Amino acid sequence: MCGIIGYAGPLSAKKIILDGLAQLEYRGYDSAGLACFDDNQTIQIKKSVGKVTSLQSLCANRLEDSHCGIGHTRWATHGGVTVENAHPHQAGNVTLIHNGIIENYHQLTQEFHLEDKLVSQTDSEVAAWVLNSLYEGDPFTAIQKFLPMLQGSYGFCILFSDRPGEIYGVRNVSPLVAAYTPSGSMIASDLTALIPYTRSYFVLPEYTIAKLTAYQICLYNHDGKQITPEYSKVNWDSDAAMKNGFPHFMLKEIHEQPEALKKTILPRLVKGIPDFSDDGIPDTLFSECDKIQIVACGTAMYAGMVAKAIMEPLLRIPVTVSIASEFRYEQPLMNEKTLTLVISQSGETIDTLAAMRLSASMGSKTLAIVNVKGSTIARESDYVLYTHAGPEIAVASTKAYSVQLSILYLIACRMAYVRKAFSLEDAANFIQMLMDAIPSMETMLHQTKTIQELASHLISHSDVFFIGRNLDYAFSLEGSLKLKEISYIHAEAYPAGELKHGTIALIENGIPVIAIATQDSVFAKTISNVREVKARGAYVILITREHAHVDAELADIHIKIPEISDHFTVFPIAVVLQLIAYYTTCLKGLNVDQPRNLAKSVTVE
Ligand code: M6R
Repeated sequence: MCGIIGYAGPLSAKKIILDGLAQLEYRGYDSAGLACFDDNQTIQIKKSVGKVTSLQSLCANRLEDSHCGIGHTRWATHGGVTVENAHPHQAGNVTLIHNGIIENYHQLTQEFHLEDKLVSQTDSEVAAWVLNSLYEGDPFTAIQKFLPMLQGSYGFCILFSDRPGEIYGVRNVSPLVAAYTPSGSMIASDLTALIPYTRSYFVLPEYTIAKLTAYQICLYNHDGKQITPEYSKVNWDSDAAMKNGFPHFMLKEIHEQPEALKKTILPRLVKGIPDFSDDGIPDTLFSECDKIQIVACGTAMYAGMVAKAIMEPLLRIPVTVSIASEFRYEQPLMNEKTLTLVISQSGETIDTLAAMRLSASMGSKTLAIVNVKGSTIARESDYVLYTHAGPEIAVASTKAYSVQLSILYLIACRMAYVRKAFSLEDAANFIQMLMDAIPSMETMLHQTKTIQELASHLISHSDVFFIGRNLDYAFSLEGSLKLKEISYIHAEAYPAGELKHGTIALIENGIPVIAIATQDSVFAKTISNVREVKARGAYVILITREHAHVDAELADIHIKIPEISDHFTVFPIAVVLQLIAYYTTCLKGLNVDQPRNLAKSVTVE
């Protein structure tokens, strides 16, 4: 949450910062601001509420000759969306931007007698004043004294008024990446802001102080010793972070799924079955566990729900899925024989990170499934399997979900093989069925007409229900999250059999019910539940496989996915559910890629 960028170099700092903030806007879009040294080497601050475009207008014809500055796009935590609460915050000699939460800001306010000085309601401004009180002309000494006083998470970029041309960066938990490029020195919360200028970058190690100037980036550890940054190469190109002719990132990312799946699966197949040797994962990780614990949030957690429904019957060991933010309070039963699967697109979700740390502290081995290379979860887990979806920019997760699922299916298959639940042939057949699901996604990408028709029905409703049983229920959960988070239509997913224990009371004439019935073992039972809602006036949107037999009058709209094995229907179903959310949101005229109140990467608890 919150996008950060800093630049020192020969080019226009204002332009680089504003362009970078536009790239980073998906991290937060309540307000934006920048601070740059002007041609008199004085810090000028500009801030505005709303999108980066408002800040761009505010900065027009100003700060043309600036070569060093910092910029921020905010997702509000402490204090409402106001210009005062927007970053940068200035306190005496210190001007800073912050991503994260300073938990002891109240105590610091009292300790440093800041009550009368604060002009905002933010924890970040408190941090700025504390740092200013410690500053006596040497940024390192001040930052070294400052860090132990802070509780919480932070990524800071700091300017000192009497140090023109210098930016200082430091972080704990919240991500910061940096690069010295032919265009100058850059630091940002995400790679997307650096990609137009470089293909090499490094992750700023926690508590390390970075000093950026136009000529170099120097890193110092907490003892003041200079250390060498460890550069990595970016594994995607800048096109991947563009819309490339699509009206929205979300639609582009939905369309990228078949390719992303191939990139994620194919390099891990040896003789037709999954092999993780190149990822450094030993088979003992899979053979020596007697329980699987999955931790994740949001869409990633719903991918975990699908994995549980696949893995438990196949492996015959308990698979528990926990919402990462609840996991710590569940007093989970874990030990060294528990394998923890940690799922996260960003690799920075703080609750997922905390859950992973708890699992590790209880002796469990952690295997992370992560999309962003070098992210905190990827670095801290015992093992990591990267998904190769490329950057996901739309706040609503789409391609990250399907590639997470593909890795979970690969893990299920390899585990079944090493635990002798699968013969070599069984494993190869399983993978063949997984590969067969990819063209079925392509088929569903072309069903726009039917989906637009049903979207035009959904927009006039304030509630939509999703029902399904077993795996179909797990898919429904993700479908309802997708719809509610971008279209703002209240959407709930229920196990179809559970409806009549209360929720069916909400079904009345015309209420849309999206019923998913792709699982052989529960098909007839789900169809009975569909009849129950139809009898009460529901507008039924039924999703089945091609050859399913259903009475024509049961469904108002019937969407058929290709005839693939029922264990793999999640892939085409995901496309259908994503397109339903997408077109509904477009028809409502809402911001598809940046829905209200949300941000892409949730780095606060
Ligand atoms: O980066 P992560 O996969 O850890 O993010 C988890 C959730 O925040 C994320 O999936 C969220 O639910 C999306 N908005 C869903 O579309």
